Amino acid sequence: MISRRTLFTLSARASMGAAAVALLPRDVFGGRQVGNSGKHARLLARSARPVDLETPVELLDYFITPVEVFFVRGHMTVPAVDAQAWRLGVDGDVKTPRTLSVADLRALPAVTVTATLECAGNGRAFFEPPVAGIQWRKGAVGTSRWVGARLRDIVAAAGASSSATHVWMFGGDRPLGTQPPFVRQVPWKKAMDDDTIVAYEMDGRPIPLLHGAPLRAIVPGWEGAYSVKWLQRLTVAAKEHDGFWVASAYRYPVGRVLPGAAVDARDQAPLMGLAVKSLLTQPLDGTVVPAGPVKIAGFAWAGESRITRVDVSTDAGASWTAARLTGPVHKFAWRRFEYDAVLRRPEVHTILSRATDERGNTQPLVPRWNPSGYLWNAPDRIDVSVGASPQTAVTPVASHEPDASNAVFDRACRVCHDEDLSAQQRLTRDGWGREVDKMIRWGARVSPEERSPLVEFLATRWGVR
Ligand code: MTE
Repeated sequence: MISRRTLFTLSARASMGAAAVALLPRDVFGGRQVGNSGKHARLLARSARPVDLETPVELLDYFITPVEVFFVRGHMTVPAVDAQAWRLGVDGDVKTPRTLSVADLRALPAVTVTATLECAGNGRAFFEPPVAGIQWRKGAVGTSRWVGARLRDIVAAAGASSSATHVWMFGGDRPLGTQPPFVRQVPWKKAMDDDTIVAYEMDGRPIPLLHGAPLRAIVPGWEGAYSVKWLQRLTVAAKEHDGFWVASAYRYPVGRVLPGAAVDARDQAPLMGLAVKSLLTQPLDGTVVPAGPVKIAGFAWAGESRITRVDVSTDAGASWTAARLTGPVHKFAWRRFEYDAVLRRPEVHTILSRATDERGNTQPLVPRWNPSGYLWNAPDRIDVSVGASPQTAVTPVASHEPDASNAVFDRACRVCHDEDLSAQQRLTRDGWGREVDKMIRWGARVSPEERSPLVEFLATRWGVR
């Protein structure tokens, strides 16, 4: 049994850095109430506009993540969707451009893909020096059963040219402020893979609005941004898309870089497969347990690669023992691991998990720092106390101060996001300067005279020393 006190500790810890527990209007989950009761309320709102919700670890202890608590990552305004009227255009280097309804897609052979979806920025909050962006901790990940039609069948029916190299995927969400539309591309080989689909079902029901209703791409094993939601158009192309979301975003340095360094987009390559990683879901961080046997369990995944072992340490990494791999096995889904430990000493025990894949990749003690804070995959870590209260401090959910007011911030920043996104950053004054310059490059309307006062405002209000 977990005590009330422990539960408080757990939820406070899980929430660290979240602006608030998710309180969303009716309808965002496809017509069902989302409020301060029920499961939805337990998602952590990392950002209200755009909607970005993290799953607390205590809700991730299922092989299939319940749809209601599946993390949500969006950059833009969720579109109004009428599934009956929704059309998917297929054009570009094809013989016969087509326009398909959801019913047309359902008429193609249906494929079920059980896949773990993880946002490339999951764990960004753990990078040092801090990296700007949503400060995801552990829960921008989940596993679902996706049903849909093969991307291959869809483009083949339109008569794709043999010189095609990519399929461009256009999202139907509405850009906020100065954002460019959400367009991603998938290279031809992955597009033609048996398991790359345009999905219309998520765990047995139509895809909910926040997860891309009525149609989304599922590019399994690759970082989440390939799985374009509200899919409206597929363009078969013989060249790369040159838009922002391909040419500038979701890229990773080709070589190692010094932590904190700026790296030109040309020295970075597109992210593809997810990194080998594990998550401890039992017991929960901060739990108090009686002396004796303790079941340790969690999930491990490695994108397109198979998990071959997970090692667990109950002494902060001094020694490691192999856990049992159990549960369902699917090519692109996480694998359950379990380990029966015995914890006797009445003190705080630091438990770690470290996964290894079939290619021999293992979780690094220090993941490579990169300017966007992608692919955090250090061994997972929790502290469990035997017979006493946790000794680590409880950090309450960040309280919200009154709205900031600054004319340039209101005009140039708030067009694309709310204040909660700025408030969770861990940037110094110099860091805010670099962030403002990056945003200007990305299209924020800040004049040269406005730059310094804006940096001053951000650093005074949210800067760290
Ligand atoms: N598709 C569109 N159209 N717009 C988006 O902002 N976000 C991507 C991807 N697809 C996004 C999108 C990112 S970054 C991730 S991690 C996944 O959707 C998240 O999917 P989920 O919200 O269903 O968990």
